[in-house]
Amino acid sequence: MAHHPRVFSGVQPTGNLHLGNYLGAIRNWVTLQANYECIYCMVDLHAITVPQDPKVLRANTREVAASLIAAGIDPKTSIVFVQSQVSAHAELAWIFNCIARIGWLNRMTQFKEKAGKNRENATVGLYVYPNLMAADILTYRATHVPVGDDQRQHLELTRDIAQSFNSQFGVECFPLAEPVIIGTATRVMSLRDGASKMSKSDISEYSRINLVDEPDAIRQKVRKAKTDMEPLPSEPAGLEGRPEAKNLIGIFAALAEQPVEAVCREYGGSQFSAFKDALADLAIAKLGPITAKMRELRDDPGYVESILKDGAARADAIARPILREVQDIVGFLRA
Ligand code: TRP
Repeated sequence: MAHHPRVFSGVQPTGNLHLGNYLGAIRNWVTLQANYECIYCMVDLHAITVPQDPKVLRANTREVAASLIAAGIDPKTSIVFVQSQVSAHAELAWIFNCIARIGWLNRMTQFKEKAGKNRENATVGLYVYPNLMAADILTYRATHVPVGDDQRQHLELTRDIAQSFNSQFGVECFPLAEPVIIGTATRVMSLRDGASKMSKSDISEYSRINLVDEPDAIRQKVRKAKTDMEPLPSEPAGLEGRPEAKNLIGIFAALAEQPVEAVCREYGGSQFSAFKDALADLAIAKLGPITAKMRELRDDPGYVESILKDGAARADAIARPILREVQDIVGFLRA
């Protein structure tokens, strides 16, 4: 049975989205809207697998939703909503807890990393996190899931769960969701250290460009970005062993939607100071409308919440009948 094409993806409501989130994921979510029915979820149930300050979690949930909208996710065509507002996620996750095997979860590298040495002290929620992610995807019968490399293993587990459910009950209930490989995704590194990823948890504000930064802040951060002493190379091969140059050129190429070769050709031989001026101008031109919209939405939380409420109702209308079907298959007595 062919399943209707549908995109689902989730983002942790951890707040403070930055250029790395935008170029690595969100921009692609925006592009997918042209060809797919898209459902985008703030995964607060996933967030509480590690301790969260309730006030901060609520604020971050609004803020991340605002970032998606500011970046160009159209909440009229796509569905933008909060995971905890649609109970089918948690209900299907329980059923999947009874499908997935302990051995499968024991192989999850992200759990091992996040739990660290003190595994006994990790929450059970962190351990079954991938089952909830499978439920997110499959409660909409999503067929395409844009994810970064770090989530690939979880997506494979989702396929295993779908397959195992289908074969245990002799049904074709769930599709085997495919990863959407994001061809244009850019790995954006810290502006202070070309060897580590741009991250919201970096203590230095100068390491990242936030989606709420004012143009002046963007310019300053680009100016202060770490560089080396050489002029820029005129070919991509010249970027090897120069992580900071590679990062800045990569950011430029991604923002300009040009190949790295073209940027090298144009700026080869230039000093960093001239290149940084051009990069700051470009970043402000491309991000300015997003950051401005973001600040506007920040001042209107009621509007963002109304979008999320509408999204939850539309998500629920898709998820509920699918969950009902699953409950029938499993053998639950209908209320
Ligand atoms: N685990 C994903 C992350 O940390 C977020 C997520 C939750 C997700 N549910 C999902 C992504 C479903 C894709 C599909 O990035």
